[in-house]
Amino acid sequence: MAANPTTRDNWGSKLGFVLAAAGSAIGLGNIWGFPTQAGLNGGAGFVLVYLLCVLLIGVPVMIAELTLGRSSQSDPVGVFKKLAPGSPWKLVGVLGVVTGLVILSYYCVVAGWTLKYILLTLDGAFTGSTATEVAETFTGFVSNGPQVILFHFIFVLMTVLIVIGGVRGGIEKVTTILMPMLFLLLLLLVLRSVTLPGASTGLEFYLKPDFEKMDSTVILTAMGQAFFSLSLGMGAMITYGSYLSRREDLISSAVYVSIADTTIAILAGFAIFPALFAVEGLTPDAGPGLIFVVLPNIFNNIPLGQLFGAAFYLLLAIAALTSSISLLEVVVAYMIDQRGWARKKAAVVVGAMAFLLGVPSAVGNGYSSLFSGFLDRADFLFGKVALIVGGLFICIFLAWKWGIPRALQEIHRSNEHFALAPLWAVLIRFICPLGISILLIQTLWEFFS
Ligand code: TRP
Repeated sequence: MAANPTTRDNWGSKLGFVLAAAGSAIGLGNIWGFPTQAGLNGGAGFVLVYLLCVLLIGVPVMIAELTLGRSSQSDPVGVFKKLAPGSPWKLVGVLGVVTGLVILSYYCVVAGWTLKYILLTLDGAFTGSTATEVAETFTGFVSNGPQVILFHFIFVLMTVLIVIGGVRGGIEKVTTILMPMLFLLLLLLVLRSVTLPGASTGLEFYLKPDFEKMDSTVILTAMGQAFFSLSLGMGAMITYGSYLSRREDLISSAVYVSIADTTIAILAGFAIFPALFAVEGLTPDAGPGLIFVVLPNIFNNIPLGQLFGAAFYLLLAIAALTSSISLLEVVVAYMIDQRGWARKKAAVVVGAMAFLLGVPSAVGNGYSSLFSGFLDRADFLFGKVALIVGGLFICIFLAWKWGIPRALQEIHRSNEHFALAPLWAVLIRFICPLGISILLIQTLWEFFS
């Protein structure tokens, strides 16, 4: 039985909603993923292409998800059931819910690492370590299965406790405190980084595009990164949009959230690259090891590094927490709306499922050879492929099944002058599906070859 719509949870204010949605978007993808990809793909050129992807694909798809959510006031499965009753389109919602559960499971594992790194840094565990020792500390920790599981558990528990509090009393309340904190911490780190002697080499790497390094894979990497970072493709924005009242403007919401997300990603680069180039012997192209293996060396080499290091991992943990609650909320909304569960039961049961599902990811980095590489594979299949497939279907559904006129009618309820409506229509009808399809083909090609 579906829950009574009049008792459905909602946001207390537009600012609360924007901060919560920005909190969903801003996460490990911004502070870990974005600098890692920028470092691997030539720096400034990647940043430029990324901005274009956010503008041409990210913002239009976010408007689409928010519109679908607000119009149906329902979870991702309920949206398709309401707008296209009796059709197989609801499977797109089901894919989103499953994707949310899987991403949550491994996301909390990595988020747990950040908790451990706050403690390690505060404890001075890296003081005086050589680069090899820093790397060994990382391998030693991630292959310590029981400990990784413990931190994973703590992170899932925090996520569950917030989601139990509800949309307004839990998610909105917590994100309105954590987001300003995150911003201040990041600003502090950027100031420290750009004022280090030798910071200019890093700034140049980050700001001066080297067009020789640009090729089609850079574009597709940037597009995939934008999708994950903006929390698109699995109905997270549908769910958050479904708690919006009809008075709140969707277009400005989508724009604010995208600007916030992109600003934080770019600032994360300003916190990392100048410091990285200021320390001799470090390179920006370390890949996923950048955050846990390269950065402690920076904190080792700068004044008050221990404190700045702890601040950095705290920043990562906060960013991850406001994202993990959105992942859990998607699945919880489904349980409440479609199965009639109480919020508390839904949060606890889904949290327990995510915890168990995360165990293979937690032990697959050196502890258990059976699950070796599990986390990376789960991330590829769900954090990449499933989001792209979901995003593609969301565009096609809105543009070709539900229809642009109905979508515009919904948007116009709160925004009579959506001047760029014709542009949005072209993007969501043609450009987004085309761009996302190419990304999908390339991703699958990569997988099978
Ligand atoms: N956007 C978050 C990040 O950058 C992760 C995330 C949260 C997410 N919710 C999502 C990604 C929904 C895709 C879909 O870390």
